[in-house]
Amino acid sequence: MASKFQAPRGTFDVLPAAWRARARVEGVAKGIFERAGYETIQTPTFEHTDLFERGVGKSTDIVRKEMFTFEDKGERSLTLRPEGTAPICRAYLEHGMHKLAQPVKLAYTGPFFRHERPQAGRYRQFHQFGIEAIGTDSPLADAEVIMLLSDILGELGVPGVVLRLGSLGSLDARAAYLEELKAHLHRHEGDLTADVRDRIDINPLRAFDSDDEGVRGVMASAPTILEALSEDDAAHFAEVRALLDAAGIAYEIDATLVRGIDYYTRTIFSFVCDALGSVSEIGGGGRYDGLIEQLGGPATPAVGWAAGYERVLLALDEEPPALGRHAFVAVADPDQRGRAMALVTELRNAGFSAELDLGGRALKGQLKHADRIGARQVLILEADGTAQLRDMATGEQRPADTGNLLGEMTGGEA
Ligand code: HAM
Repeated sequence: MASKFQAPRGTFDVLPAAWRARARVEGVAKGIFERAGYETIQTPTFEHTDLFERGVGKSTDIVRKEMFTFEDKGERSLTLRPEGTAPICRAYLEHGMHKLAQPVKLAYTGPFFRHERPQAGRYRQFHQFGIEAIGTDSPLADAEVIMLLSDILGELGVPGVVLRLGSLGSLDARAAYLEELKAHLHRHEGDLTADVRDRIDINPLRAFDSDDEGVRGVMASAPTILEALSEDDAAHFAEVRALLDAAGIAYEIDATLVRGIDYYTRTIFSFVCDALGSVSEIGGGGRYDGLIEQLGGPATPAVGWAAGYERVLLALDEEPPALGRHAFVAVADPDQRGRAMALVTELRNAGFSAELDLGGRALKGQLKHADRIGARQVLILEADGTAQLRDMATGEQRPADTGNLLGEMTGGEA
């Protein structure tokens, strides 16, 4: 029954069984966010384009190549959000959240859009859940947000997760290092790809992220930011590590870790999983102490992360949980339909899941349908007003008193 219409490239439909698997991930994340005091915020799906140009960075792949940008009828440039941190910082400023008790701890979930080359785990519309702790530079906040993602992946049972940890230092301290790195890259220009060469002066850190053999060779001998951290930044990083050690969270220090967004300062981290193949990151983030100022606000340190639902589900690779269906109310005679509807409503109001035939099937067809959808019990309403309760696992059937419907249901529990 395929029509000529298909979901656009890099997008997908989430069908009900897949939704159940997603809902489990969402439920675990939501529970952990709530218990840690991160409250939900929802920002619009599109924002003014310059928010991302300024927030994410003009030299990033996201801004240069991947944004879905369009003009509205008032000739304003808008962009489907490629990430959530810049919008949340915009909202923090717009709503004067700096006046609240700091840090403001926020959680979010929703769709994001990047025009990337689609492959397993990489889509043009994907879905993230994440948190931001805004208004503190304490290493405790870095450790807390990292621990929360670790807890979520642990509770979900994602196998083979490794936490990579690095630090980019603060913006001022990083400047001297970047000059050193640029000089190194210029000395080896001949071994670089055109893309890396073109960005030596605007975004030299990205060279650490290249898959190209030649570039990797050059980067193997490049100076690393960890060797060049200022005293304050090194102390902050040491404190984050000590807190993670104390909490028993294993990590690997990665001196060449970089991220595809410009706003990061100090701690950065990435949770990776081998099962994901080349798109190995499940979730990641870091500190962004300069972003709110960059957006026109007061200097406000912050830290957070986002994880991709699709990546988590790919790494879990498990059957979606079955939908528990309690009861089906079948009618032996069409005259009983109104009564069936009333009984189904009574069951639903008492917390049972209950369905009835919406398709005009004969009794045999209704029983088959009840079996197919996994109903545990079927109440059959006979033409004479009596009723039978059938246990679908054993096939046993007995008369039932519909006046005491809830008592008749096996186990009685909703
Ligand atoms: P990001 O690393 O760009 O960071 O994305 C976070 C996560 O989103 C990735 O680890 C991945 O799971 C998922 N993701 C990204 N792009 C795609 C895609 N095309 N298809 C499927 N999944 C994808 C951020 O977005 C930052 N806002 C994170 C952050 C929050 N940093 C601080 N606070």
